Amino acid sequence: MITIEEGINLLNKEKVVAIPTETVYGLAASINSLPALENIFAVKQRPFFDPLIVHVTGKTMAQSLVTYWPVYANQLADAFWPGPLTMVLPKSSLVKDIITAGLDSVAIRVPKHPVALEIIRQVGPLAAPSANMFTRTSPTCAEHVEVEFKGAVPVINGGPCEVGIESTVLGLFEKQIKIYRPGLITKDQISKVVGTDILIEHASSPVAPGQIKHHYMPKRPLALASDLEQLPSELKDQEISIWKMDGSAELVARELYSQMRKLDGKQGLMVFLVDKKNYHDEKWAGIKNRVQKAATYNFLE
Ligand code: TXA
Ligand code: MG
Repeated sequence: MITIEEGINLLNKEKVVAIPTETVYGLAASINSLPALENIFAVKQRPFFDPLIVHVTGKTMAQSLVTYWPVYANQLADAFWPGPLTMVLPKSSLVKDIITAGLDSVAIRVPKHPVALEIIRQVGPLAAPSANMFTRTSPTCAEHVEVEFKGAVPVINGGPCEVGIESTVLGLFEKQIKIYRPGLITKDQISKVVGTDILIEHASSPVAPGQIKHHYMPKRPLALASDLEQLPSELKDQEISIWKMDGSAELVARELYSQMRKLDGKQGLMVFLVDKKNYHDEKWAGIKNRVQKAATYNFLE
């Protein structure tokens, strides 16, 4: 673990540093350092077709990175930044192709973590994916990152993440918003802010369709159910670890990846028990999306 000052020094020397955000830990590089950006992909073993999110301190910095900024983007930024909302907009020439995987749009957000904001103020915009190996579970505390990269990446410890799942990712168009990745900020909340002129729909991301099927993947099989009785006997006939996803969406999201990691080391099956009503509630869309991608068996559909 390193201090904030050491992290800033390393980032200025074109190195990669793991930083806390309110959602999950990020593996950060300055958007101006090609070697550091390349290193993010190498460290994560992430394919170059998967673009990175750029983290900024606010609207002005965000606007310098895009060529189009609809009026309703101001409303979204005022309502949700700093916070777990990412906006995808046409990129300006300041954004390197490696960041956007060659796409002409860039994903941007303002993280709500004092450490992340202080570092961005001093270093400038930071590209940062979640600080985990490609397709694996995102880290929600500094220790997760240390374990994930076996100590090979310097980490700034900012405590446990308050949100616990990754940001809601939105594609912004003239009269339309596409929700590419659901999160704790819901369609209803977005709709209230932008008004009825803008059509909002869930849509698959333009990024590598179909290529990233298994994400958030634990090593041990995971079953989703509302009741243990739903499991067929061949599944019940083994060692089982259970997590009850009880409480609000906020509480469950905060715990989700820690629980996945905690139960993952053992033998047999992990079972996440969740109320069917919650599972299909819009507030839980982000949680549903993550556990669906992680699950081997799903008895909730
Ligand atoms: O909460 C978060 O968003 C965390 C923290 C660290 O900020 N970051 C994160 O990054 O989850 P990552 O790389 O694991 O996921 C970013 C996703 C990409 O996989 C991609 O689906 C989407 O954001 N994305 C990035 N750029 C995009 C673009 N130009 N168009 C569409 N989707 C994009
Ligand atoms: Mg990720």
